[in-house]
Amino acid sequence: MIQKGIEQYNTGDLFTSIPTSLVLVDNNKKVLKANPEARKLLGENIESMNLEEVFKSEKHGIFDRAFQGETIERQVIKVNNIPIGFSASPIHNRENKITGAMIILRNLTEIKEMEAKLRRKNRLTDLGEMAAGMAHEIRNPLAAIKAGIECLTKDFTEESNASEYIKIILKEINRLDHILNDMTTYAALRPSYKTELNLNNIIRRSLIMFEEEMKEKNIRINDHYDGELTFTADEDQIVTVINNLLLNAIDAIEKDGTIEMSTIGTKDSIKFSIRNVGRKIPEDILPKIFIPFFTTKSKGSGLGLSIVNRMVQNHNGTIKAYNWEKGACFLVTLPKGL
Ligand SMILES: Nc1ncnc2c1ncn2[C@@H]1O[C@H](COP(=O)(O)OP(=O)(O)OP(=O)(O)O)[C@@H](O)[C@H]1O
Ligand SMILES: [Mg+2]
Repeated sequence: MIQKGIEQYNTGDLFTSIPTSLVLVDNNKKVLKANPEARKLLGENIESMNLEEVFKSEKHGIFDRAFQGETIERQVIKVNNIPIGFSASPIHNRENKITGAMIILRNLTEIKEMEAKLRRKNRLTDLGEMAAGMAHEIRNPLAAIKAGIECLTKDFTEESNASEYIKIILKEINRLDHILNDMTTYAALRPSYKTELNLNNIIRRSLIMFEEEMKEKNIRINDHYDGELTFTADEDQIVTVINNLLLNAIDAIEKDGTIEMSTIGTKDSIKFSIRNVGRKIPEDILPKIFIPFFTTKSKGSGLGLSIVNRMVQNHNGTIKAYNWEKGACFLVTLPKGL
């Protein structure tokens, strides 16, 4: 229920505290108001500047359609080399005349960096997995913003401009929510393509792929294979699992170390383990390592193990992480399939 005291809020508070960059411009493309998030992104002194000064190029023209009554959605521009995603919507007065526009901006630097990193590590084999992780991160703040605004709406019916801004924000939130739903549905439904695979071949291929990185760090591989193990699974996903576990083991060794790989076959399953001799996983973070976006690395995305986990589960397998005497160990068990 709405707490008493809601009347203490006003549009100013909403505008200032919302964790989204908002800029209001009048019909002459002059900035009337920019909230703190927007000033952080575009510069402290943008209020009363023109759009062309703010966006420092001919690019300010991309907002023109908003002044002609159109809503501009999901565009990207660069300002001071920062990639910025934006949407812009016209603002109407009571006579339904356009009096300006509201621009919603978002700094895409982190998302772009993450995309680049994922591409580098060949993780885009499953874009849906990344979408699921991102959806998880975005949905919570979105729900909070939406609930807050819906409460505040009730107080603003008298002020036409205020309710206009709120309507725009709510519309944007609903649209984002839709996109997130689509992304997660896609991620959940992506069909896997299973064929008969030879485990040793896949592991050897991964080892060759990271040969250079291991040579640079002087990492030795100690591998034991329990015969030629075959099983039925989605090759792309199994390669992604092994690559991610191997990369983590490489990351855990600063210099001069050993990674142990071994495989075991049973009647119905195949198992493989990847152990690094070197750094252990601190006991307090062990329960968190499979959570999307959890990372202890300055340049990690924290998506590696959550993707691995999803893929192993897709195959009705299990993955265990634990510390042994000299380091960390990841043990994957997969049914032989069909
Ligand atoms: N072999 C390992 N040895 C020690 N710690 C590990 C090992 N594997 C994972 N971890 C810990 O688990 C965390 C999460 O791993 P995860 O693969 O999900 O993300 P990341 O490696 O940090 O980022 P990215 O995979 O994007 O490079 C790591 O930051 C690290 O602290
Ligand atoms: Mg990783």
